[in-house]
Amino acid sequence: MEKLLEVNNLTKRYAQGNVLARISITAVDNVSFYVKPAEIFTLAGESGCGKTTTAKLVLGFEEATAGTMLHNGNTRSRREKTWLTKGVQAIFQDPFSTFNPLRTVDSYFHETVRNFRLARSKKDAIAHIDQKLRLVGLTYEDFAGKYPNEFSGGQLQRISIARALVTDPKLLIADEPVSMVDASLRMSIVNLFKRLRDELGVSILYITHDLATAYYVSDRIAIMFRGNIVEMGTVERVLMNPRHPYSQLLRDSIPQADPKKRWATKVTLAELEQEEYLRQGCKFAGRCPDVMDVCKSVVPTDIHIDDVFVKCHLYAEEKK
Ligand SMILES: Nc1ncnc2c1ncn2[C@@H]1O[C@H](COP(=O)(O)OP(=O)(O)O)[C@@H](O)[C@H]1O
Ligand SMILES: [Mg+2]
Repeated sequence: MEKLLEVNNLTKRYAQGNVLARISITAVDNVSFYVKPAEIFTLAGESGCGKTTTAKLVLGFEEATAGTMLHNGNTRSRREKTWLTKGVQAIFQDPFSTFNPLRTVDSYFHETVRNFRLARSKKDAIAHIDQKLRLVGLTYEDFAGKYPNEFSGGQLQRISIARALVTDPKLLIADEPVSMVDASLRMSIVNLFKRLRDELGVSILYITHDLATAYYVSDRIAIMFRGNIVEMGTVERVLMNPRHPYSQLLRDSIPQADPKKRWATKVTLAELEQEEYLRQGCKFAGRCPDVMDVCKSVVPTDIHIDDVFVKCHLYAEEKK
């Protein structure tokens, strides 16, 4: 099987706390996954589970503590800085922080065209940029000479996607790309991802805490919890029939209509975060409705069952 991106045993430890109480948390703990050509692969999980850290490691913005990454079958040494090439581009959560408010947005596009020598003349450059903008439903005339604040958040996010497409990448890494976009425009952006996959064969590493859009766009999905991938497989298997108790909890919490409830969940989560990262055995043991003694001391291995990987002792028992 062809793999565009392959990540093996990726680990990142961070020091936290102060000089008196120094602790180290493993924000990304032995994470392995791959992304195939023309596939949308999603990393999903609540805030603080290690999604952004994983993205930064893959992009080379942070150095991994351990692990290897392959792009098109080529290894990238941990220190190599040239990982972010024409072939891999990133899209971030806040389009307003992607663009300097004092620069016109078109200047970014022209700069990329120049840096990668993608056009022979200004006319060529404009045609190339216009073609990318049309993919996201805009045109060169719509944006030439304008500053970021002249666009809505949704438009600016489309523009940042068009900008990522200028180099004709094969892989887009999108970290929470719709979480700051109005709910009414979210679907149009995730639909755009589907079109890029289907029409241009682009792969997307889609990072989100939103299972509804994840279900809608993903081919395969990995559920993260406190630095670990706890369940991974096709989106139908993982979200329609979740096996890991945490995936079940997450899936059942999708329609959180009551705002009071949502607030309460967030508070407990924040307080638990460090405690759970430091936990021996399974990181979910403290909240798991199916917890067993072994969970509190032994880290579960990845169990392969029905084409899904589940990191849970329940299934080790089942397989025996
Ligand atoms: N630079 C850093 N220094 C120390 N801890 C960090 C740093 N970056 C992230 N973390 C910690 O790593 C964990 C995972 O964070 P992050 O990858 O941002 O999660 P997510 O994107 O899923 O919300 C969190 O507990 C966070 O506090
Ligand atoms: Mg994040």
